[in-house]
Amino acid sequence: MGRVKNTTFAMAATMLSTGCTDTAPVANPFEQSGELIALSGGDAGAANACIVCHGMEGEGDGELTPQLAGLDPGYFVRQLELYEAGQRRHPEMEAIAARLSWDARNAVASYYAEMEPPPGAAANRQACTAAARQLVFSGDPSRDLPACTACHGRDLAGAGAAGPPLAWQTAAYNESQLRAWRSGRRYGDPQGAMGEVSRLLHERELRAVAACAARLPDATHRREPRAASLLEHRHDPRNGA
Ligand code: HEC
Ligand code: HEC
Repeated sequence: MGRVKNTTFAMAATMLSTGCTDTAPVANPFEQSGELIALSGGDAGAANACIVCHGMEGEGDGELTPQLAGLDPGYFVRQLELYEAGQRRHPEMEAIAARLSWDARNAVASYYAEMEPPPGAAANRQACTAAARQLVFSGDPSRDLPACTACHGRDLAGAGAAGPPLAWQTAAYNESQLRAWRSGRRYGDPQGAMGEVSRLLHERELRAVAACAARLPDATHRREPRAASLLEHRHDPRNGA
């Protein structure tokens, strides 16, 4: 964790405890509250601060907690709606989503959307068996299974709100989500595409496909600290933040 991030965190914590904004005038309080929610949990409470599980830089925990940094905000907000509606099951995330207002969801989604995605994110092709590679990059017309790349982007690094990046997530997370769709614990995605895809995959293929589509195991989200903290940036009206 870089010095700059620590400073940002300390500033946000001070502002929370004092409730004081005089010392840190901000151009866009909407955006700022996204950062504060990430650091403090907002209405969901401190124990639910996003950084507790998703990491200081939105990088995820390297296992079953996904990376949030760089996710499309439309996709992000829809996931919170799905958790609240019970169309995606996870006890903590359901409770957290239910306690975040519409404004708070949008604010925290745009905060994470502005974070840079990991450098050179691309699927871990070395982890691909020949069969998995074929399914991921070409699909299988004989069972009407489209290539994963058709919706998730050529490098599986994402394609907007309806194509989250698989190559930013771990093999374990990707597999857990495929299993959730297949069992019906996750549903409500556009056109029911993933329910169908997950059921067209044979059990023996699932893990291999998830690993092939996931990020390189040693690819981290860590970046150089930014030149100035987000809060400092916002003082300057010229940067349009
Ligand atoms: C107690 C740990 C924990 C906390 C705190 C937490 N999350 Fe999560 N979050 C998770 C886990 C685990 C998942 C994956 C759950 C699943 O399998 O559906 C997840 C999934 C998500 C997803 C779906 C991402 C995707 O790629 O589909 C979003 C969006 C999200 N969290 C946002 C937030 C926000 C915003 C906060 C803070 C307000 C937050 N989370 C706090 C554990 C947590
Ligand atoms: C027809 C389009 C389409 C195809 C083809 C497709 N997906 Fe998806 N996938 C989606 C959509 C849309 C979502 C997001 C669903 C939502 O918003 O809940 C998604 C989400 C996912 C996620 C969850 C990502 C996250 O962050 O939670 C995984 C994992 C996934 N897909 C794996 C695959 C794999 C593996 C393949 C190929 C075997 C594949 N998908 C093919 C449309 C597609």
